Formats: sequence, structure tokens, C-alpha cells
Amino acid sequence: FRTLDQLEPAGKRVLLRADLNVPVRDGRITDRTRIDRLVPTIRELAQREAKVIICSHFDRPKGKRVPEMSLKPMAEALSASLGQPVLFAEDCIGETAQQAVAKMSNGEILVLENTRFHSGEEKNDPAMVKALAALADAFVNDAFSAAHRAHASTEGVARQLPSYAGRLMQAELEALDTALGSPARPVVAIVGGAKVSTKLDLLGNLSKKVDVLVIGGAMANTFLAAQGKAMGKSLQEAEMHGTALQILETAEKAGCEIILPTDLVVAEEFAANAANRIVPADAVPDGMMALDVGPASIDVVESRLKRAATLVWNGPFGAFEIPPFDAATVRVAQAVAALTTSAGLKSIGGGGDTVSALRHAGVMDRMTYVSSAGGAFLEWLEGKTLPGVEVLKA
Ligand code: 3PG
Repeated sequence: FRTLDQLEPAGKRVLLRADLNVPVRDGRITDRTRIDRLVPTIRELAQREAKVIICSHFDRPKGKRVPEMSLKPMAEALSASLGQPVLFAEDCIGETAQQAVAKMSNGEILVLENTRFHSGEEKNDPAMVKALAALADAFVNDAFSAAHRAHASTEGVARQLPSYAGRLMQAELEALDTALGSPARPVVAIVGGAKVSTKLDLLGNLSKKVDVLVIGGAMANTFLAAQGKAMGKSLQEAEMHGTALQILETAEKAGCEIILPTDLVVAEEFAANAANRIVPADAVPDGMMALDVGPASIDVVESRLKRAATLVWNGPFGAFEIPPFDAATVRVAQAVAALTTSAGLKSIGGGGDTVSALRHAGVMDRMTYVSSAGGAFLEWLEGKTLPGVEVLKA
């Protein structure tokens, strides 16, 4: 695909698809990672004298204008990160948007209002695509994290205008290629999280591609229970036992070593600092639940990581939001950070809770790459093609 190296942006109106869908609580942005990561592309385009027209969705307003879902606060945050003024247009298409663009000088930056205020966005409606394309001479996509959506502003418009990957998109794709495209071996994958049912395709795909698959989080309980182990009142999916056993069998046939916990940290209730103890993974007492993986299991994970060349990590080991059940996640994260710095381990993490877990462990800037994508990262781990990326290759 083409990058900014192939674009002559000077004097051009460049429509930049960003992902300004950032976490907000009580009207305040709680995590600026996605905003900060857009800075290199925006700055480069502005310095190279483009008119930078930024579009994005935020939240799920379902085709209606919902004032609380305006992108105005994100435009202000972007301005602060860039250290330069950012203009704002109250609509992303039509006369309001056209007039705002017409007034721009080279090197100026404009943020358009939420694309999902129009129902045509998610429908990838040709009229919406045309209206967006009319605003610009070229399209740059820097929203890897929205690339699993075939929407007007991610996929449709890329068919209408000369299209390029932005620097963030480029970095994400390069990191993903390092992780699974053409990785240095052995490759270890860590998959955690609550449910096997939401990660079936992911486990299936990874077990064909990696050398060692470590299963953690509550989904490990389902695997252990499927093997007939006593799990007390641990969270697990009884209806997934057959599937779990099939995954183990497929992995074994593919020569992928599966690592399940051998010990667990258990408590009577899911509460911060609940009285807890370590038990073997086949002996969770009645009335108790597993909330983290135990230290002996982490020793095994660390031994595999020491031999690994590449790590791909999705999902925490335990209930990392409530101490002390963050212990396994933090310990593994710190081991990964140390091996990345000192032994050249290529470590790539991403998807949903993973970023908060890695941030909690304080290792964000010591990993090779942490993706800012949630659903898109998961779909990519599942081996799916992402429409927003595919169209850039066309
Ligand atoms: C995300 O946060 O994963 C992306 O911005 C996509 O958002 P969506 O799930 O609402 O399409």
C-alpha cells in the first residue's frame, strides 16, 4: 500500500480518517493514547502544506445527532497535543463542511463532526461516500482501530480518492507483521480474558500459527473444567467444554504447545483484597473462585518467554482491576518488558483490556509495540481481513 512517502500533499485537501473514539468519563477524556498517536501524521501533513481535514466516529450515536457525542472536545485535545490551533466544523458533510474546507489555508487543520451522526456512515451509503469524497483531493487512513468496519469514512471513501496509509496505520501494520506475518520464532501467544466463546476464532487461528499458546484469565477455568478439574464456583462456560477440548486437540496436532495454569489464586468473593490463597489448578475448593493465576504457573510462562523471539499478548491473566489479583499480569508484563529491553524479544500487545492491563503494569513504553486497537486487533488475531486495510492495498 501507499504511504505518505508517495503523497505530494502541498496545497491539497487531504481527508484524514482518524480514530478519535477515545474513552470518556463524565465528559472528560480518560486516555489520550489515540489522540497523541495521531500527532506525527497530522504534523507531517500540515508541515508539508496540506489542508488537513480530519474525520472520525465517536461512540455509537446510530445515525442521530447526539450532542454528548460531539467530537468538539477531541478537537480541543488534539489542538493541545499538537500545540497549534485546530478548526472545527459542526457537520462532516454538506454545506457546513464544504464551507469550512473552502476557508482553509495550506497547513491548517480542521476536525469534522462525528461521522456517525449520519446513518450513511455505517451503511457505507454511496451518497455519504460521495459527500465525503467531495471535500478532498486525497484520502489518508490512520485509523487502524476502525479498519474492521466497512463504513463510508473507512472503506467507501478510499475507493473514490487516491488513498494512503498514515504513519500510525503504517506502524500498526508493521507491528502486526512482526507478530504474526513473518515472525522470528519461537512465537509465544498469551491469550487471557473472561470467555472462550468470544475468542474461539482467535484461539483457533493462533494455535495454527504460534509455537506456544498460553491461556490465562477466566477462560482458562473453562479449559481446566473441561479436563474434569474441580473449579469450585469459578467463572466458566460449561457449554464450551467440548469446544475447549477440541481446541486443545487441534493445537496438539499443529505442534503448538498449550500452557494452562497449574496453580490458581482463589477467594470466596470477587472483591478487592478478598482473603485469598494459592491452590493447585485441579483443586479449587467448593465455594471458592479462581481470580488469578498462581506463581508456579507464571514460572512456566517465564521459562517459555525466555526462549521466545516473539510474543503476541491479548488479555489479562486475572482480575487485574482489583488487587491483589493483578499479580500474575503485572509479573508477566514486567518479565516481558525486561526481555524486550535486554534480550531483543519482539513483544506486541493489544485488544480491549490488554492496554489498560499493560498500562497498569507500567510497561507501555517498554514493549516493542502496543496497539491502540480493540476490536480490529482481535479480528486481525482471528486471521480476518480488515476492509479498511484491504482497500488501501487495491
Ligand atoms: C474501537 O474503539 O474499537 C473503534 O473505534 C471502533 O468502534 P466501534 O466498535 O464502535 O465500531
